[in-house]
Amino acid sequence: MKEGSKYNIPIAKPYFTGEEAELIADVMKSGWVCQGPMVARFEQEVSRYTTAPYAVATSSCTTALHVAMLIHEIGPGHDVICPSYSFVATANAIRHAGAVPQFVDIDPATLNIDPAATEAFIEENYTADLHHRKSGNELKAILIVHQIGIPADIDTFAQIARRHQLILLEDSACAIGSTYKGKPIGSSGNVGAFSFHPRKVISCGEGGMLVMQDEALAEKARVFRAHGASISDFARHKAGATLTESYNVVGYNYRMTDLQAAIGVKQLELLDELVRRRVAVAARYNAAFAQLEEIELIKPPAYVSLWNYQSYPIRLRRGGAEQRNALMQKLQEEGVSSRRGIPPIHKEPVYDSGVCLFNTESVSERSLFLPIFPALAEDEVAHVIEAVQRCLSGIPARAGV
Ligand SMILES: Cc1ncc(COP(=O)(O)O)c(C=O)c1O
Repeated sequence: MKEGSKYNIPIAKPYFTGEEAELIADVMKSGWVCQGPMVARFEQEVSRYTTAPYAVATSSCTTALHVAMLIHEIGPGHDVICPSYSFVATANAIRHAGAVPQFVDIDPATLNIDPAATEAFIEENYTADLHHRKSGNELKAILIVHQIGIPADIDTFAQIARRHQLILLEDSACAIGSTYKGKPIGSSGNVGAFSFHPRKVISCGEGGMLVMQDEALAEKARVFRAHGASISDFARHKAGATLTESYNVVGYNYRMTDLQAAIGVKQLELLDELVRRRVAVAARYNAAFAQLEEIELIKPPAYVSLWNYQSYPIRLRRGGAEQRNALMQKLQEEGVSSRRGIPPIHKEPVYDSGVCLFNTESVSERSLFLPIFPALAEDEVAHVIEAVQRCLSGIPARAGV
């Protein structure tokens, strides 16, 4: 931070009212603090909000995505298509299941996996019965990501999935509160996973949630998240008779605590207001930055009926990572935090197979994220705007701003 600057604006900040503490206290008094009634209530509330009939809470979105693979019996010998322009957890969840992530390029206009590139990738790399021409792996699923809360084109991917008889899954980590063609993310009928990490629009510290339409899949998910037990602790408690569980699959401890769920219930009550505030900040950024010739803004397609602005991206029209990093450094000196615009997964050593994804790499190296969160004050928004304008044009900052 520049000496004398009164600003030190973080990239993100979760928003709590303090009322969460009262509900946490109720949970503690009840004595049931893990995978109990408050988790069930949070699941019901997410189900109501998203209109998905079933919601299954987990310890994180990564574990939710792993469970999504398990309930569809995706595992060794299988491939799953996903974008590389995502947080590494997207690919890790596929790997956790023993399957192989196959990275497809994004559309720079949407920041999401490109449907046409997905079709071309399938044509090029798989036989008619969906076996990879080199590895022999069977292609099982497409995992779309609603990156930074921008809905991917779900209907087009549903058509592709139907055409090739593939499972369509949604990594909705960033997308709670966003809508696609007027409908909430989570309502599509595909199995999807939300994150409640503090960088997300609502948070309970850590946590995840699967949503789905199919009762049998939901039941399988509940078994996998709790050590593979055929009957949950809570169900045994409520039964009023002695029930004995059995363990028929290798399960995991992916449970959510009721303390987290209490926070989640309160956060969900605020969700629409939190999104409204993010959209208001983004509108001010959009109006100011549209005047700047040096940067490109993301203008989502018409099917994106509401973008929750989980992150606010800007992209340099010219230059690459060096210029972007220099801008980030200058912003830091002005007391404005920023983050690199999603490092591609396929460039990380653990996933580097030498493939080239032009749009992913080009978008990534020219992009950065600016601070956006519900409690961002008016003067802070103004400061971010001025700092970007100054840093881009190379005008030395005024002392003490
Ligand atoms: C697109 C995406 N998928 C998955 C995850 C993982 O979420 P969690 O931290 O809840 O496991 C994240 C988190 O940043 C993400 O951005």
